[in-house]
Amino acid sequence: MKITDNTLYLEDISAESLVQEYGSPLYVYEESVLRSQFRQLRSGFPEELLSIHYSMKANSNQSILRILREEGSSIDAVSELEVRLALESGFEPQQILFTGNNNNIEEIEYCVEKKVLINIGSLALLELYGERHPGTTVSVRINPGIGAGHHAHCITGGPDSKFGIYHDQIDSVLAMSKKYSLTLNGVHSHIGTGIFSSEPMLEAMEMTLGVAEKFPDLEFVDFGGGFGIPYRPEQLALDMKDLSQKMTSRFRQFINSYGRDLKMKIEPGKLLVGPAGILLTTVTNISDTPKHRFVGVDSGFNHLLRPTMYGAYHKIINAGCASGNEEDVVVVGNICESGDILSKSGDEIIRSLPKAKIGDVLAFLDVGAYGLSMSSQYNFRPRPAEVLVQEGQSRLIRRAETYEDLTRCFVEIK
Ligand SMILES: Cc1ncc(COP(=O)(O)O)c(C=O)c1O
Repeated sequence: MKITDNTLYLEDISAESLVQEYGSPLYVYEESVLRSQFRQLRSGFPEELLSIHYSMKANSNQSILRILREEGSSIDAVSELEVRLALESGFEPQQILFTGNNNNIEEIEYCVEKKVLINIGSLALLELYGERHPGTTVSVRINPGIGAGHHAHCITGGPDSKFGIYHDQIDSVLAMSKKYSLTLNGVHSHIGTGIFSSEPMLEAMEMTLGVAEKFPDLEFVDFGGGFGIPYRPEQLALDMKDLSQKMTSRFRQFINSYGRDLKMKIEPGKLLVGPAGILLTTVTNISDTPKHRFVGVDSGFNHLLRPTMYGAYHKIINAGCASGNEEDVVVVGNICESGDILSKSGDEIIRSLPKAKIGDVLAFLDVGAYGLSMSSQYNFRPRPAEVLVQEGQSRLIRRAETYEDLTRCFVEIK
């Protein structure tokens, strides 16, 4: 992404011309950013020690999955259909780790049939699994008792969290594995998403290793994802170089005391795809109240939920006038809800932006993760197209939905 002559370019193509060609709104992904995010992360760890399982819930577009597979990624999947899509995108069953939550047993049966790695996060499900598949191998997700993240909805560890087997119930896990002759080959934890400092990550790692040492048959320990990306201009990035060095040296120490070679897994989502994605929208309306100037666009929380759901900040650029006389505005979508505010930042809704007019293209940055993947068809508005750009070339990787797509599942009453 770069700005030349006050105009936004994505891999050398102007954002405005992409909208002209593919329509608005439009999700655009920069391939070079995606690849370099993966390579940079990979280079921080010794090759033989680490497996990266891309958390495909962040963005499950098949072209993105294929690019990350080419780069050497494996997969973290949360549902049966994610597993199916990963398989159909060319991942080997043993590259896919299924970590459901409150998933039904049929989803697990599907993974058994497909020979996908299964990670179980509840004692009740472990019992059910053991009864059906005694003498097999699984891993377990534990709740290490601590959580972290950029919003309460994003914290997935600690006593308020529904995820994983609480770390004080490990004796029951071990007893169950004995009862059903299960081999527990992995311990997994994931404490949250949008984490900006190493401390909670390393603390959770410590707790997880404390549990892992009680398991005699491990092949891997998985420390989950959650690596934050800087959304705000002033935000400091998580120091991945430092964190990866610390994780590596602590893990090596653990391997020494464990006495057997083990793999470390991590499951980044946002870190890999977040910075690669841009949502292009078109200004459709400008209106004033005594308090605010509202700039309305042809998208909304149906396409980008993070501002409404978490108060998450996304930088906004006027693609044809990246800098200029600024005014305080509230950027809103076309969804019939007063919470449909795209310029949110916590409780703040006002953003200073160059004066916009109807027809201008507004770009929302860093939306590659949990953007389209969390979208809906609310207000009977179809999902936008997705385009991949690379070195001046653009390719459609998902067409926009149509009226027919929206009505396809209706069943007529006879
Ligand atoms: C089990 C698990 N692993 C990995 C991730 C990816 O998190 P992030 O996108 O913050 O890296 C998630 C996200 O919710 C998750 O639930």
